[in-house]
Amino acid sequence: KKLVIIDTDCGIDDAQAILIALAAPNIEVVGVTCVFGNAAVDYVCQNVLRVLSICEREEIPVFRGCGGPLVGANNLLATDHFGTDGLGDVIKDRDPQWEQKIQREHAANAMIRLVTENQNQVSLVALGPLTNLALAIRLDPSFPQKLKDLFIMGGNMEGIGNVTLCAEFNFAMDPEAAYIVYEEYLCPTYVATWEFACRNALPWDFLEELISQDTPAARFMKMITSKCQAFSREAMRKKRDVYFGSGFVSYDAYAMAACVDGSVVTERIECPVRVELQGSMSRAMMVLDRTNQLKKSHSVFVFTKCDVAKFGQLLMESVRQPLKK
Ligand code: BDR
Ligand code: CA
Repeated sequence: KKLVIIDTDCGIDDAQAILIALAAPNIEVVGVTCVFGNAAVDYVCQNVLRVLSICEREEIPVFRGCGGPLVGANNLLATDHFGTDGLGDVIKDRDPQWEQKIQREHAANAMIRLVTENQNQVSLVALGPLTNLALAIRLDPSFPQKLKDLFIMGGNMEGIGNVTLCAEFNFAMDPEAAYIVYEEYLCPTYVATWEFACRNALPWDFLEELISQDTPAARFMKMITSKCQAFSREAMRKKRDVYFGSGFVSYDAYAMAACVDGSVVTERIECPVRVELQGSMSRAMMVLDRTNQLKKSHSVFVFTKCDVAKFGQLLMESVRQPLKK
């Protein structure tokens, strides 16, 4: 089995991505590390515990990580999109014991320990701001070399932003962290950008079918999408019509799907990238160095096309998963 660490700011699409990993017969999730992003990190921890409990997989250790970016303040939480708690503010029965279920070890230390114990065997799937990962690299510079590979949902490939003019949310939340990850890169890295996800949207009818399955995971997805679906549909319609057309986009699920089954991605660009740290309009933008101007020694794989039918199948299997694997 492929060993996987999931680093997440558990919003609705992160929850979907985690379900994909839990359902995949070839994946063993060795830990889930939490980071601020869609919501404050304490909510993120609770959300991850909730997803694991829906699937009866509470034995998977959950680690709390960074509550803010490496530099500056965190003032961009996606509360308008996913609610204050990251899952649409529909969960009423919060677990008062949740904190005791979180491991004592910090997420960055846990990442280092897990990859050191299993050198070149662990895939890391990063679904939120890259703060925990950048911190792990700074704590242990050999960390990236010990990873098998890295899957990132974040950044952009055409300079189209979803929170600022040119920046995607996960990178905009912590540009310095994203910068560090790409400069220190030493393992094969695969990137599902915002534009890639939008260009490979599923029809809205697919979401209806997904959440109407009669399983605990589907009922959970139905509950957490109930309040914010209208908002998402409208936002997609307004923003995306211009560039992408419209549809259901589960961003983080693309990075996870690529880790579970590489054949989901049918086309990619291999080139060096760098994250812009300056710029009054372009801070946090991921720049593709198509002409090798930066003279970097390594490239990453940026996804461009996806087998949407296969991707949809993985999503569907993720909500139909039998409990207790
Ligand atoms: C990314 O931002 C978050 O809101 C989503 O969970 C996803 O990781 C998309 O830009
Ligand atoms: Ca996310």
